[in-house]
Amino acid sequence: MRKQKSLKKLLWPNLIKFMPSKVIIANWKMNLSVKKSLEFVRKIIKSQNELVIAAPFTFLCEMSKHLKKKKIKLAGQNVSQFSEGAYTGDVSAKMLKEEGCTYCLVGHSERRIYFKETDSEINGKIRQLLKYEIKPILCVGENYLQRKRKLTNSVLAKQLAKDLQGIKVSGEILIAYEPIWAISTFQENKNKKAASLEDIISAHQRIKKILQKLFKNTKKIKIIYGGTVTPLNSSQILNLKEVEGVLVGGASLKVPSLNAIIKAI
Ligand code: PGA
Repeated sequence: MRKQKSLKKLLWPNLIKFMPSKVIIANWKMNLSVKKSLEFVRKIIKSQNELVIAAPFTFLCEMSKHLKKKKIKLAGQNVSQFSEGAYTGDVSAKMLKEEGCTYCLVGHSERRIYFKETDSEINGKIRQLLKYEIKPILCVGENYLQRKRKLTNSVLAKQLAKDLQGIKVSGEILIAYEPIWAISTFQENKNKKAASLEDIISAHQRIKKILQKLFKNTKKIKIIYGGTVTPLNSSQILNLKEVEGVLVGGASLKVPSLNAIIKAI
């Protein structure tokens, strides 16, 4: 019995090395404050997997000073499609890099819907990010009506083809499948549910096929899921082999629920 235990202890670190590592991205949207964000980070447990926080621009500078020890990575929530110049209110990829961002969200449905971001702008943003070696997290997904009309596959194909048109996969790119009907926007939509595991598997398989048509090599592209990921469903979702990570909105705003999701893998 004792021998068995010590064998397990010996093998475990090596087993972990061979487990595919997953990424957990907290999308804080326009919530919290710099002060709260620092308290938050202090209470986050360490993870074997990659943990990323997509924080508002004004938090990035302070947060980057406190994240190194915990190996938490920072992400921007948006970026300009231009490199520099007279674009009042925009933040460039170079500026995100200076603030220590490793990742950046692009084309989140809230930006597509509320700020009318187009696929060609999103394409420009991805190009800027890759130029500065920041990993884009491209969000794609259908709305409720499109789903009802069975248009999910064609919506995904169109978004991916346009957003990634002419892009060379020089670094890692993440594609977040975020069905709009499953995104619960924190205060509202308390009754929303994540997509079913079958829906997630089939959309992820579809995205993989589309990417294989678009690119010769898709090794550097990860496909992750977002839309009402919570401590209750994260383990099931993260353990799907098709899912290489999760993008978490509402449930990433409280330390206990984010910690529970980190523990889920
Ligand atoms: P949610 O948000 O987890 O609150 O559904 C996800 C997202 O919008 O990225």
